[in-house]
Amino acid sequence: MATNSRGQFNSRLGFVLAAAGSAVGLGNIWKFPFEVGAGGGAAFVLIYLAFCFLLCFPVMISEIAIGRKTQLNAVGAFKKLGHHNWAWVGFMGVVAGVLILSFYNVVAGWAFGYFLEMAQGNFDFGSVEKFVGFTADWEHIFIYGIVFMGITALIVSKGIQGGIEKAAKILMPTLFAMIIGLMIYAFTLSDAMAGIEYYLVPDFSEITGEVIYSALGQAFFSLSLGMGALITYGSYVSRKQDIVRSAALITLTDVSVAFLAGLMIFPFVAFLNAGDMSSVSGGPGLIFMTLPGVFESLGPLLGKIIGAVFFLLLSFAALTSTVSLLEVPVAYLVDEKKIKRPVAVWSMAIIIFAIGIPSLLSYGASETLSAFVNLFKADANGVLKETALPFLDFVELIASDTFLPLGGTFIAIFTAYVWKKNNLNAELMEGRATSSQWLSKYIDFAIMFICPIILGAITIITILERFF
Ligand code: PHE
Repeated sequence: MATNSRGQFNSRLGFVLAAAGSAVGLGNIWKFPFEVGAGGGAAFVLIYLAFCFLLCFPVMISEIAIGRKTQLNAVGAFKKLGHHNWAWVGFMGVVAGVLILSFYNVVAGWAFGYFLEMAQGNFDFGSVEKFVGFTADWEHIFIYGIVFMGITALIVSKGIQGGIEKAAKILMPTLFAMIIGLMIYAFTLSDAMAGIEYYLVPDFSEITGEVIYSALGQAFFSLSLGMGALITYGSYVSRKQDIVRSAALITLTDVSVAFLAGLMIFPFVAFLNAGDMSSVSGGPGLIFMTLPGVFESLGPLLGKIIGAVFFLLLSFAALTSTVSLLEVPVAYLVDEKKIKRPVAVWSMAIIIFAIGIPSLLSYGASETLSAFVNLFKADANGVLKETALPFLDFVELIASDTFLPLGGTFIAIFTAYVWKKNNLNAELMEGRATSSQWLSKYIDFAIMFICPIILGAITIITILERFF
């Protein structure tokens, strides 16, 4: 039977943990805090939360339902439910997945490298110079990247039950506990309040178009939405499972981890800057430059232990995400191109690693790639804004900040107007344990109107503003 030969998650918890494992990753702990920093603090947080629940949650339900209904990869699923000419939405997702994994693996490699540094008590890696030196040291970063991609490929080649599900079950809860522990420690530090205030008390004058666009991109990225990762995982879900409830659990878990990571990091930032939050701009070095100093404050032995464990767990959180990213192109090759799983896994891993090399070199190893592109328009005076992006950030902007919301918009339009609402609802009824009327009504309304129109509008405006 098709279902069995493709593999299936063993239990409800298995799927929720694996999907939450996909969602929880560098997006929550590395990207979210610096996006908050770039977006001016609490105002960003508020918009981000609204997007997660109001726009992303219904898209997540659609993705899982499409996957379970068709039991296919992202491309095949659209073909089966729509017409052949919808397959490109799935294909765009596969491309987005490949691009995201190409840079994600680089940052995951940094996290892994930091685990090694912290284990040796090298807390000075928290200084700007040391961080820049670390990311520019391409020979080491190269090896970390290969190790990370290799482990990812090993897990994915084992298939659903053997690899993904087992890993997620153990690692997720441990990470969660660790963040809570560090958060409590953060609260005890001097100047912690300044950080909390920055994070939780919104200053609405900070809201600009750019803040809204990046909050949307961040919401999609963090929830692993818009590229078919959850269509693919959904295709391994049993018909007895309640999709709405699972999606709610996944969303809540992901948002909580990001939210707690923020509650942990901003008091730390305030502590290290003696309460001055005006210089928080974030940038991809934020956690790498902040946390080591905090670990140092714990004393040499405890700092070493906590620091190493933290970056190890962060690497694991990244691993459950890289696994889901690699699974998208692999499932496509296995289902549509009839390529054997191990062949698909290892060839994709090598290709994606290669695509990631320019990103890998763009944090200091190559000047050209570090100042790759000046993408944004001129300001009102005709002066080009100073926004030379490292190649890594450029790929991130294209793949996660642009492709994902765009993919999400198409998924919503597809679900509402091609596959049709009634078919979605029939799929959601299977395995539905609770029937919350208002929630069902909201999902209907969101899929028909809010997602296609509001999500679509913000996405189009973002693209026009950013690139034209
Ligand atoms: N959600 C993951 C994170 O936050 C990244 C990811 C994006 C994974 C898209 C899969 C698909 O780290």
